[in-house]
Amino acid sequence: MLIDGKQIASEIRSEIRDETTQWVSEGNRPPYLAVVLVGDDPASASYVRGKARACQECGIGSDTIALDSSTSEKELLDLISKLNTDSEVDGILVQLPLPSQIDDQKVISAIDPSKDVDGFHPVNIGNVVLGRPGFTPATPAGIMELLRRSGVEISGKNAVVLGRSNIVGKPVLNLLLQKGTDATVTICHSRTRNLPDVVRNADIIIAAIGRAHFVTKDMVKPGAVVIDVGINRIDDDSRERGYRLVGDVDFDNVVSVASKITPVPGGVGPMTIAMLLRNTLDAARRKA
Ligand code: GUN
Repeated sequence: MLIDGKQIASEIRSEIRDETTQWVSEGNRPPYLAVVLVGDDPASASYVRGKARACQECGIGSDTIALDSSTSEKELLDLISKLNTDSEVDGILVQLPLPSQIDDQKVISAIDPSKDVDGFHPVNIGNVVLGRPGFTPATPAGIMELLRRSGVEISGKNAVVLGRSNIVGKPVLNLLLQKGTDATVTICHSRTRNLPDVVRNADIIIAAIGRAHFVTKDMVKPGAVVIDVGINRIDDDSRERGYRLVGDVDFDNVVSVASKITPVPGGVGPMTIAMLLRNTLDAARRKA
């Protein structure tokens, strides 16, 4: 069975739109997200446009502050400091990657944790590990929501996460492990021995390594649930743009053994913006 991320994300956006309308009808101003884009990377610009459009559709205010690629670290830190103290700003998102003269980690750490709707601040990462309220990064939150809304039983199951990134692997490990969720979790990475054997033991596979078609049919236990976080470009002359996007999972072959599987595109991807909107609405509510 296909896990339709596009459909599930659209349901969540509609819920957020209703909740935002309710929030405003109670006399509150609409939630507001400040998006900061530094430089002119086309992919980043396109992501940021998607986020702005989604905010607008849900009644969430947002502006994109576009800064030149030559912006200094100090200029960016000054801007963040201003947004931190601006009581009209509920959420702050600095689109990554940043130009090389700016230290990403220093910038993320400068954001007020109560406005860090990306959930990248060390305080929010700590809260995820501790299972305390805070902001969960959008992609791991989206993965958990896909599992929940697809009725996947997690408690006591073996979950194998491929990839140990700070943005996906490490937080999703902690979310799966949380009391009340109760998976037994294994993380695989480039140094893992006998990786196919480890993956074959999984009831739930989360693939987030950024290698096209890495997870093949022989690695997947029949009936396993497969969540594909990868977005990889592979050459495709039949497409006008010369490439197509594929996941970390060999979907065409794995689909016949998995009990549930997310497609790429249309799986995890659409969920991330929905989770960002959720965090922005939560930021506004928590402030009030
Ligand atoms: N660049 C790629 N993904 C993300 C994300 O989730 N948040 C931010 N801020 N930048 C990104």
